[in-house]
Amino acid sequence: MAVLETISVLDKVLTVKFQNGTSIAYEEFWLRDHCRCSTCYHADTFQRAHHLLQIPDVNISNVKYDKDQLTITWSDNHESVYKAEFLAEFSYDKWRDSRRLKPIMWSGGDVADKVTKIHVDEFLNSVNGAKAVFKSLLDYGVALIENVDVSVEATEAVCNALGGVQHTMFGGMWEFTTTQDHADTAYTNLPLAVHNDNTYFTEAAGLQILHCLEHSSGSGGETLLVDGFYGATRLKNEHHDDFEFLTNFDVEAEYLEDGHHYRYSAPVIKLDKMKDITQIRFNVYDRSAMAFPNDEECRSYYRSLRNLSRYYENPEFQWKFKLKPGLVMVMDNFRVLHGRTGFNGKRVLCGSYVSRSDWLNKARALRLIQ
Ligand SMILES: [Fe+2]
Ligand SMILES: [Zn+2]
Repeated sequence: MAVLETISVLDKVLTVKFQNGTSIAYEEFWLRDHCRCSTCYHADTFQRAHHLLQIPDVNISNVKYDKDQLTITWSDNHESVYKAEFLAEFSYDKWRDSRRLKPIMWSGGDVADKVTKIHVDEFLNSVNGAKAVFKSLLDYGVALIENVDVSVEATEAVCNALGGVQHTMFGGMWEFTTTQDHADTAYTNLPLAVHNDNTYFTEAAGLQILHCLEHSSGSGGETLLVDGFYGATRLKNEHHDDFEFLTNFDVEAEYLEDGHHYRYSAPVIKLDKMKDITQIRFNVYDRSAMAFPNDEECRSYYRSLRNLSRYYENPEFQWKFKLKPGLVMVMDNFRVLHGRTGFNGKRVLCGSYVSRSDWLNKARALRLIQ
């Protein structure tokens, strides 16, 4: 419970000292912009009522406060009331930290004991079940849902609960076997090295959901997962120049098929302003043919991608398991790389993507993140 202790105003800045010792400074213009009266703010839609350009250039005329709230009278006679609880949210470090995701990195199959493995009914019908799944996705980038009916419809119900199907050129819910529906390695029975999907999209899929509906009269086809953040962090510690290169250099990727041509360029390791890793965009197959301004840059491209690749291809860091009918695997495509061993026999998979906006929306609504 935030309690106001003292207030001071100096040079258009109002400083609040709270009882717990925190001090926060608020710019005068910020305070007027954050007025929560019914003329300035629609409490029912949580939206501001005024355009930025309508905020008047006024000054604080008078300040009154008690331990719970602060009242400002402005030079245009408007009055603004701020709750202590509201003001306390804007300590910069605390505010910034509240926006950070805190993934727990993993290497190897031991993570199997940590990720959520849950009965589909519990996931679909209980808040705690849903929380367990999204928490596992936030922490480890993977969750497993069991006892799902072996059908596209039942898988779709899971996808909807994860945030809703993200439509792409591959469709909404897709079902695929070794038949050539698309000119992509995923549609063959060859081994598939670990990768992220959609490196050629401006907005890569947030989650990938896979359900093996059938694998009859054959062997192989084991799923490989690896924590992309873990490999990138190892690269940072062991080959710092390569890490720097991959966080700055735009690697171009593309997808070509009759009537389609996707292309996108971005760093393989995306960092935010806090230098936290926010996305891995690694796919050895989808790299497009690129030109380089000089030999040095070209050599850096190969060296750094190959060094990163060595972590991802290291079997010790991979989690290998077999998808079975009834088990739906969900993974964070911004973080976890997936692949599979080669196989024979008939293998039918279905699944979909969920956009990152949509699954984080669910996690936020469950109050797992801010
Ligand atoms: Fe894939
Ligand atoms: Zn107001």
